[in-house]
Amino acid sequence: MILVLNGPNLNLLGRREPEIYGSTTLEELEELCAAWGAELGLGVVCRQSNFEGQLIEWVQQAAEEGFQAIVLNPGALTHYSIALLDAIRGQRLPVVEVHLSNLHAREAYRQHSVTAAAAKGIISGFGPLSYKMALVYLAEQLEAGR
Ligand code: DQA
Repeated sequence: MILVLNGPNLNLLGRREPEIYGSTTLEELEELCAAWGAELGLGVVCRQSNFEGQLIEWVQQAAEEGFQAIVLNPGALTHYSIALLDAIRGQRLPVVEVHLSNLHAREAYRQHSVTAAAAKGIISGFGPLSYKMALVYLAEQLEAGR
């Protein structure tokens, strides 16, 4: 079972700067993740919060809740949340960081990810397909028992 977490402002997907983040709504993105998970034989649970503390608690509790891995789009917290970085480091599940937009093609302050240092890797710039790629990677890893 995979936990897909979306951070601040991602509840506004589809309406928020669609030229950057696309027209897919959060609800549609979550449906896509569930469908991709089903194709890959993975259960997927999606959650979104605008609150750093809530995301930290979900990350902290994920293993205890029975999840095997986390796909995380921390939104703007990516760029400054040492607390979220510490939460990822403080637990044992693999975390794949994803972004809809290509951080490296954006403002200088978005080009560094603080949280990625604790992630397995980062997939950025492919819109909703960034999430699919993360699920494909995790399915392969879990299948291989890693
Ligand atoms: C984002 C990129 C962040 O810089 C931004 O603050 C977001 C979305 C993305 O998915 O492209 O909220 O994480």
